[in-house]
Amino acid sequence: MQRNNSQAKAVAIVSGKGGVGKSNFSLNFAISLAKLGKRVLLFDMDIGMGNIDILMGRNTEFTIIDFFEKQIPLKEIISTGPENISFLAGGSGLTDLFSLEESAFKRFLAELTHLTGQYDYILFDMGAGINQDSSKFLLCVDELIVITTPEPTAIMDAYSMMKYLNSINHLIPFYLICNRVETTKEGQDTNKRLQNALRKFLTKEITPLGLLPDDKTVSRAVIKQIPFILFNPEARVSKALIEIASRFIKQSFSDDLTVKNRNFLGNLKRYFLGKKAHK
Ligand SMILES: Nc1ncnc2c1ncn2[C@@H]1O[C@H](COP(=O)(O)OP(=O)(O)OP(=O)(O)O)[C@@H](O)[C@H]1O
Ligand SMILES: [Mg+2]
Repeated sequence: MQRNNSQAKAVAIVSGKGGVGKSNFSLNFAISLAKLGKRVLLFDMDIGMGNIDILMGRNTEFTIIDFFEKQIPLKEIISTGPENISFLAGGSGLTDLFSLEESAFKRFLAELTHLTGQYDYILFDMGAGINQDSSKFLLCVDELIVITTPEPTAIMDAYSMMKYLNSINHLIPFYLICNRVETTKEGQDTNKRLQNALRKFLTKEITPLGLLPDDKTVSRAVIKQIPFILFNPEARVSKALIEIASRFIKQSFSDDLTVKNRNFLGNLKRYFLGKKAHK
């Protein structure tokens, strides 16, 4: 199927509970997609506590905060990471991107519009949980990847978050990753539990993308400040992630609905610039 090349697919990586592996997933997923030939921009949206740059051992000169405070163009803030991924560091000192003045947001949108044509995917690594403003942003993206672990608390929080998001936008596709599984069965059971609960109580389908094993490679790579997929490409977690990335690419190509509905920039305008909201 022909892809709409004019606009990158905007994908947010979210979780209910914190610390389940979103940032490690986002970074290594971005690198995996790039290894598979895709052009990727990774956006650290955990503004104030962003750590993607730390995870790859890069000292970035600018962060998104410089865009707003020093008016530095977005394309000068974007750094190049491994496998030629582009990334925007989150920085610290700004607490909320979503409560910006309209003029600042307009500038942001204008520059983002220019950028989306240059990428296949824009990935947003979000902070844990959601508030009113970030949920508004999550309604704008084309797809959500929800990360959980097999822990009941993580599953419950993932469910609560999806329930809330689904109540405000039933159309947005949800993908699911179960991270830190000890056994395949444990991961599959987790996915089934969430799938069944969503189907039964929310009449919503969620597409499992795969399982990532609990693997010491991750914490070793974090300590070395090297993305795990590069630190040890042969590790179980790295191989599993490459499979997830290729499944995700195939899924995007086959999913006609999401391509037709893709309108990240239009949604941002509608939701954040006070224009008439749409459902
Ligand atoms: N597959 C895994 N195997 C082993 N350890 C892991 C795995 N994934 C993540 N971890 C551990 O969990 C820690 C937290 O991961 P990460 O920072 O990516 O989570 P997060 O969801 O982004 O957290 P936050 O909610 O604070 O943003 C990592 O430093 C690592 O030690
Ligand atoms: Mg994080």
